[in-house]
Amino acid sequence: MTTTRRHQLAATALALAAMALPFAAHTQTAPKLKVGLMLPYTGTFAALGNAIENGFRLQIAEAGGKVAGREVEFFKVDDESDPSKATDNVNKLVKRDAVDVLVGTVHSGVAMAMAKVAKDSGTLLIVPNAGADAVTGAMCAPNIFRSSFSNWQPGYAMGEVMAKKGHKKVVTITWKYAAGDESVKGFKEAFEKGGGAVVKELSLPFPNVEFQALLTEIAATKPDAVYTFFAGGGAVKFVKDYAGAGLKKSIPLYGAGFITDGTLEAQGDAADGLFTTLHYADSLGTARDNAFRLAYVKAYKLQPDVYAVQGYDAAQMLAIGLNAVKGDVSKKAEIAAALQKAKIDSPRGAFSLSKAHNPVQDIYLRQVVGKENKLVGVASKSLADPARGCKM
Ligand code: BEZ
Repeated sequence: MTTTRRHQLAATALALAAMALPFAAHTQTAPKLKVGLMLPYTGTFAALGNAIENGFRLQIAEAGGKVAGREVEFFKVDDESDPSKATDNVNKLVKRDAVDVLVGTVHSGVAMAMAKVAKDSGTLLIVPNAGADAVTGAMCAPNIFRSSFSNWQPGYAMGEVMAKKGHKKVVTITWKYAAGDESVKGFKEAFEKGGGAVVKELSLPFPNVEFQALLTEIAATKPDAVYTFFAGGGAVKFVKDYAGAGLKKSIPLYGAGFITDGTLEAQGDAADGLFTTLHYADSLGTARDNAFRLAYVKAYKLQPDVYAVQGYDAAQMLAIGLNAVKGDVSKKAEIAAALQKAKIDSPRGAFSLSKAHNPVQDIYLRQVVGKENKLVGVASKSLADPARGCKM
């Protein structure tokens, strides 16, 4: 063999070896992983967005600051929980910044716009809160995943709880948008199955907090109990106004757990004793959750809440997916396959993903005691969203 031919063969072998090597193997040269965080940093859900980012960053820090061997570069957009700006906002991340993965958001209406852009562009999307049923229902897609819940899940679990408690006549109150509507729908489905009746469905536009007229209507209707969905700043005000109107003593208030999660400091005594359903509680007492809580407090000097857990798990899911493809985000089918068979070791308790990519998880019954959402028990074991309309 001639020297030239030997050189040609050696060069070909080197090129082939380089192609076979994963990104992770060249730690110096692997391009940074571009993560687009689209979250609310202002408005009624600002604290939720911050907690999600904190949880996400904590998991990456615990993993040595990398995902599948790639350093992470963050691109951030404040979505203001405003659906009318959502498509432009998500396109800033997808088109302008060319992110590898989208992580967001909190508000269901904004998340549906993100899901549409993700589906059309093929960008990997992990939803770390918004429960919009459609995201893992009619809009489901191989590249869309959720680390949180569907709006149906905590609502359905509470419908079962309240029916079992013997309540018959319930009024619901919420914001008029996808999350509120779907939470009430899930609640109603189980509550009516259990023999109860929803006698009035009250609502006000998101993110209004002028509750007085609706509280007067509740007092006049005299139901056995009230079911509610509010979150963030709106939840703080609603719980205080409910107690302030003197209703707490006569008409028990229940809710999807967002009504008291991350809000207890601000709600004070007004929240004491409330029963809620959610996929997290403050006193799970497992080794996994204790370690997470300790690390979170150490990093941020704040107590974690469900939003922090969902952010942390979004990062865990990203790592599971990308480790399976050695950091190559273009391998969507392999990422999906890895996540599909994964058990995610969450502080909430291990969970798996449904075929539609929504967590199949225990929904806990909690009660507010002091400044904690204390675990009462499991309201609904391994609850899977029905994924209505998902064709995948
Ligand atoms: C939502 O819009 O889906 C949502 C917002 C806050 C807490 C829970 C759900």
